[in-house]
Amino acid sequence: MPATITIEQEDEGLAVIIIDQTLLPNQTKLLRLRAVAEVCEAIRSLRIRGAPAIGCAAAAGVALCASRAEARTQTAFMGQLEDSIAQLAATRPTAVNLFWALERMRKAIARHGQSSRAQLVSALTLEARKVIADDLARCHAIGRYGRQLIEPSSAVLTHCNAGALATAGYGTALGVIRAAHEAGRIRQVWVDETRPLLQGARLTAWELQQEDIPCVVITDSMAASVMADRQVDAVIVGADRIAANGDVANKIGTYGLAILARYHRIPFYVAAPVNTIDYQLTAGSEIPIEQRGPAEITHLAEHATHPIVPIGVAIHNPAFDVTPHSLVSAIITDRGIAQPPYVETLAAYQELD
Ligand code: MRU
Repeated sequence: MPATITIEQEDEGLAVIIIDQTLLPNQTKLLRLRAVAEVCEAIRSLRIRGAPAIGCAAAAGVALCASRAEARTQTAFMGQLEDSIAQLAATRPTAVNLFWALERMRKAIARHGQSSRAQLVSALTLEARKVIADDLARCHAIGRYGRQLIEPSSAVLTHCNAGALATAGYGTALGVIRAAHEAGRIRQVWVDETRPLLQGARLTAWELQQEDIPCVVITDSMAASVMADRQVDAVIVGADRIAANGDVANKIGTYGLAILARYHRIPFYVAAPVNTIDYQLTAGSEIPIEQRGPAEITHLAEHATHPIVPIGVAIHNPAFDVTPHSLVSAIITDRGIAQPPYVETLAAYQELD
């Protein structure tokens, strides 16, 4: 599988290379992005998606802008960088990793404010590469911690795609599943298809198939029934933003799964790097939830010609929901496994710089 995101030097400046995830599983096509507007479009249209991957793309986008900026004066150059940060920040509102990565780039700009343009470009390129490398390392740490929670011969259920495609590689929820599989503990993965954009069916099943991890795709509405049949030993999902009290925003449908898991006495785990925790928000009700366009619901695929909903009927399409911390059995991070009370256990992981 190609890397989710890489940065390459070309004659005219940097290029950001991503897999176009909207084409999977039918086509594995790499896209070379050469302008911030292209990076923004790729994030907005989910060509690259998943909270950590969005952060990596945003960091790379700032470095890309610096390397290709045409501004003549230092003031205009700095203005162009600020503009690119503002454009990237406006792409998607929920995943806090995006804002975390942009803040990291802003700090790098401030640290090198007095340097020459060439020095600043190489400092930002280095910083973006570090954001990507750092994310990969965090995913591996999450996998190492999380596999301890998975009992031998488990059938686990996951939702959306929190895999290599959603991160710099390896994945968060899928990182735990990969590590547990390597340890011989996974019998099977139930993959929720994840309407409306089918990240489970298209992306998670594709990743698992590539590594010969046994998986079965179900529609979202089948999760209750497989749980009732005692065919699920644990649910494990990723996160887009976690409030300081442990409330978790993740792909729409996650909250329902958490309720089902509690009813059936199945552990419900969330796997995420600590930069997904937004310590400024006390509760999940403060997390901004992205609302997306109606076409994702009225049509079964981007280019489908026939709607599956009568034309003119109103559509509600929130991309994420919030699972209250009381339904979360543990939060697996790159710093360790947080157990309730999260307000205390997550506070211990706060990264201060
Ligand atoms: O809309 P998406 O596909 O970006 O949503 C992604 C998710 O909800 C993932 O579960 C989350 O970002 C965690 S990815 C490691």
